[in-house]
Amino acid sequence: MEIIIQPTPEAATDVAAQIVAQLLRQKPRAVLGLPTGSTPLLLYRELVRMKLNWRGVTTFNLDEYTGLSPEHPASYHSFMRENLFRHINIVEKNIHIPDGMTGNVPAFCKEYEKQIRRAGGIDLQILGIGADGHIGFNEPSSSLASRTRMKTLTVRTRQDNAKAFGKLTQAPHHVITMGIGTIMEARHCLLLAFGKKKARAIAGAVEGPITAMNPASALQLHPKVTVCLDEAAASALKMKRYYRWVFDNKPNWQKF
Ligand code: GLP
Repeated sequence: MEIIIQPTPEAATDVAAQIVAQLLRQKPRAVLGLPTGSTPLLLYRELVRMKLNWRGVTTFNLDEYTGLSPEHPASYHSFMRENLFRHINIVEKNIHIPDGMTGNVPAFCKEYEKQIRRAGGIDLQILGIGADGHIGFNEPSSSLASRTRMKTLTVRTRQDNAKAFGKLTQAPHHVITMGIGTIMEARHCLLLAFGKKKARAIAGAVEGPITAMNPASALQLHPKVTVCLDEAAASALKMKRYYRWVFDNKPNWQKF
């Protein structure tokens, strides 16, 4: 894992944006895995500002709430449209987001996995992290080999995400999410985390044991992971000084 610690969320986002931009320039037909949540908002804003060419790019979103139509303001379809897709030149048919309204969840999930494979697999999977270590909506205790499927949210995640729904009782219990096994097949994973609230989850994911109780810890088994953090999210890491030294002293050929 490469751990990059920057003073602010903005600075950590700049590093992440460079990684995305470099991929899109090198591989105009790249396949991206995309997250939602407050964490990637700065990244999406920066990517829009960079005016990259998205015409050949294919995207797969990590997850969606079940029972919400794409038009629902709290759906991840709406989130992606508002924060990224309507500002860039991506081709509509290349956008994939789980269908929260599907009448046949298992068949939909199987097909989603097939679509990822047909697209050639995900080149870069961008990830946020929940305060409990979840990635996508793979809550603690998720199988580390899981594939796209329906999951039930924990009380904590529903509370964390309730503001989009006005009140907790309106927040859905169920979601469709890529599995941890699905995420692990991406060629490169880019995990972003900002703020003190994420510090424990990040320490567990990066330096803790690999455990289903911190789903992001599965990334320790992935051959190429970049973690972009602000100071607060990095605050519980034991090897902070080492990570900083490594980043500051990268050989030129490794720099982007
Ligand atoms: C949701 C999403 C995750 C995201 C997490 C953290 O649960 N399904 O993909 O990483 O929220 O959200 P935030 O970035 O708002 O802290």
